[in-house]
Amino acid sequence: MNLEYAGSETLAVNTDTPPESKLIERPVPIIKADRLSYLIWDEADLDKQEAFLLDFGMKTHQKDQQNLYMRSYGDEPYVYYARKAKKSAFRGLGVSVNARKDLERLAQKTGKQIEKIQHPGGGEVVRLTDPTGLEVEVCFGIEKVKPIDTRREALPVNTPNHHPRVNVGQRAAFAPSPVLKIGHCVLGANEIEKTIQWYMTHLGLLATDVLCLEDGSPVIAFLRMDRGKEIADHHAIVIGKGGGEGYLHSAYEVVDVDAVAQGQQYLKMKNRKHYWGMGRHLLGSQVFDYWHDINGCEFEHYTDGDVFTSDRETEYYPMDPGINYAWGDDIPVAMFKPNGKQIMNILRGLFKGQFSISWLKKAKKAASRSPRPWL
Ligand SMILES: [Fe+2]
Repeated sequence: MNLEYAGSETLAVNTDTPPESKLIERPVPIIKADRLSYLIWDEADLDKQEAFLLDFGMKTHQKDQQNLYMRSYGDEPYVYYARKAKKSAFRGLGVSVNARKDLERLAQKTGKQIEKIQHPGGGEVVRLTDPTGLEVEVCFGIEKVKPIDTRREALPVNTPNHHPRVNVGQRAAFAPSPVLKIGHCVLGANEIEKTIQWYMTHLGLLATDVLCLEDGSPVIAFLRMDRGKEIADHHAIVIGKGGGEGYLHSAYEVVDVDAVAQGQQYLKMKNRKHYWGMGRHLLGSQVFDYWHDINGCEFEHYTDGDVFTSDRETEYYPMDPGINYAWGDDIPVAMFKPNGKQIMNILRGLFKGQFSISWLKKAKKAASRSPRPWL
C-alpha cells in the first residue's frame, strides 16, 4: 500500500519506525456479527438533536417525549436511538447478526439472557457491556423497513476520454445529503488491548489496519466485520488509546463525493458547526467531512470507502498524525492536543496503571509530529 503524503518522507527515514506489532492476535470468536446497526444515546434536548440529524441527512422514524429514533434511507428502522435524559451522553452501540443461533450461542457463552427489543421493529437482543462500560447490544430479527427513495448511484463524471454527460449539467440537489447507512463508530479505550480482544471475541471482528507506537504497541486499531467472502467496510469499530474513553466519532455513508460536498453546503447554510473536511483518508480511503452535533460530538459524512473480504491480512503502520489523510483540508490542531477531559482521563489512567510514563512519552512523540510540512 502506498502511504505517501506530504511530509511522509520524514517518517520514512525515521529508523525507530515502522513497528510490526504482534499484539493483535485474533482470539477464537464466539460469534461473527454482520453489521453495525445503531448507536445509543442519552439526550437532554431531543428536539434540537432531531433538527441537527435532519440537517445531517437522517429521517425521523419515531419520536415521543422520551425516545427519538432516527433512520437512514436504508432498510433498518433506526441508526440513532436516544432516550430523554437530564444530561446528554453516549451510551453504546447495536450490531446485528443474521441467525438466531448466534444470539443463543452468545447468551450461553456469556451467561446473558435473550430479551425482546422494546423498540420499533421489535426483534431480540443479548445485552453486553464492553470493558470501558459501554452498552453493546447484539440484535437479531429487527423488522426491516422500506428504503426511502433517493439517488443510490454516483453522478456520472466526464473525463478527458469518456463523456457520459453530453448536453447535461452536473447538478446535485441542494438539500441534506441522504444518509444511506451507519458505517462506523470510533471509541477510546485506556486498556486498548483488552478492549480490542473483547470486541474480537464477542463480535468476531478482524483487525484491518493497526497504528502502533515505536515499540510496536497498538494505539489505534481499525476493526471490520468478518463476513467471510462477502465484503465488509474497512472498519466498523475503531479502538484508540490516548484520546479519552468512550465515543470519539461516528460515520455515515452518503452516495458520492458530490453528496459529501453538497451536504457540507447545506449544513453550513444551517449554521452547523464544521470540524474537518473535506478530505480523503489514507487508511480506508473514504472521502470525509466531519461535523459537531448539538453536544459537540463528531459526526462524519463519508463516501467511497475501501471494502475487504476476510482474506485480507492485518497491516501495521507507525502512528503518525499525517497518516489520517491523503489529501484534504488542514487537520484541526485540536485533534492531537489533549483537552481538559482527556488530560483528566490520562491522569486517572496513570493512577490505575493503564498508562505508563514511557508509553505517554512515545505517544507524545508520535502525536507531536506535524501532519503536514506547512502546519
Ligand atoms: Fe471515521
